[in-house]
Amino acid sequence: MRMILIGPPGAGKGTQAPKIKERYGCCHLATGDMLRAQVAAKTELGRQAKKIMDEGKLVSDDIMVNMIRDQLENNKECKNGFILDGFPRTVPQAEKLDGMLTDQRKPLKHAIELQIDDSLLVARITGRLIHPASGRSYHKIFNPPKANMTDDITGEPLIQRSDDNEATLTKRLGTYHDQTGPVTDYYRKTGMWKAVDASKEPGQVWKSVLGIMEPSG
Ligand code: AP5
Ligand code: ZN
Repeated sequence: MRMILIGPPGAGKGTQAPKIKERYGCCHLATGDMLRAQVAAKTELGRQAKKIMDEGKLVSDDIMVNMIRDQLENNKECKNGFILDGFPRTVPQAEKLDGMLTDQRKPLKHAIELQIDDSLLVARITGRLIHPASGRSYHKIFNPPKANMTDDITGEPLIQRSDDNEATLTKRLGTYHDQTGPVTDYYRKTGMWKAVDASKEPGQVWKSVLGIMEPSG
C-alpha cells in the first residue's frame, strides 16, 4: 500500500491509519507524532516545533520533506509501502513527495480526504487523550480508554496535546483551509483523489476507506 490521508485536525487520520497499517503491513508515518517525539526528546528542532504547533502554524517544508525522505529510505517497515498521515500539507510538500516517489518508481496508489464539517471538530479535539509514546489516541466520550486516563496496552498515563484547545484549533483550521485545501485540488488533478464522509462513527469511516482501497471486496 502507498497512500496519503488528508483531513483537518480531528478528522480521524490518526484513528484510521493504524487500521491500514495493520491490514497491509506498511509503515504509518505521522509527521505530527514525529514532531512531538522531538519535543519530548527536548531537541532544538523540538523546541522550535513546539512553538509553531502551539500557534497552529506549519513547520517549514524543507524540514518536513527531509523527515519523510529519511523515513521512506531508511525505515524497514516502509519496505511494504506506507501510509502518510499529516503529510503533504502544502503544495510544495506534495510536489517534493511526487519527485521522491517517481525517483524510487513507487507511485502513490491513493490520496484519501477525510471530509468533515469544522463544527464537529471542537468536540473531537477537546475530548482527545493521547498515549505520547505510541501516538495512540482515545476520546473521553467517543472512544474512552478501558481504565481511567491510562493506555489500554501499556497502562501508561494518557495526556492532552498542548495544541488541543479551542483557541489553537481555530488557528489550525485556518491553516488547514488556506494551505492544505490546495493540496486536495492538487490530487484531484492526478485522478487518484477520493473523499469519504468522516463525520460517521469510526467503523463506518473504516468501511468507506476500505471500499476505496479494495473496491471489489
Ligand atoms: P498533526 O499531529 O498532524 O495534527 P492535525 O493534522 O491537526 O490532526 P490531528 O492529529 O489533530 O487529527 P487526526 O485527524 O489525527 O484525528 P484523530 O484520529 O486523532 O500535526 C500537529 C502539528 O504539527 C501541525 O499543526 C503542524 O504545526 C505540525 N505539522 C505536522 N505535519 C506537518 C507538515 N507536514 N508540515 C508542516 N507542519 C506539520 O481523532 C481526533 C479525536 O476524535 C480522537 O479523540 C479520536 O478518538 C476521535 N475520533 C476519531 N474519529 C472519530 C469518529 N469517526 N467519530 C468520533 N470520534 C472520532
Ligand atoms: Zn493525528
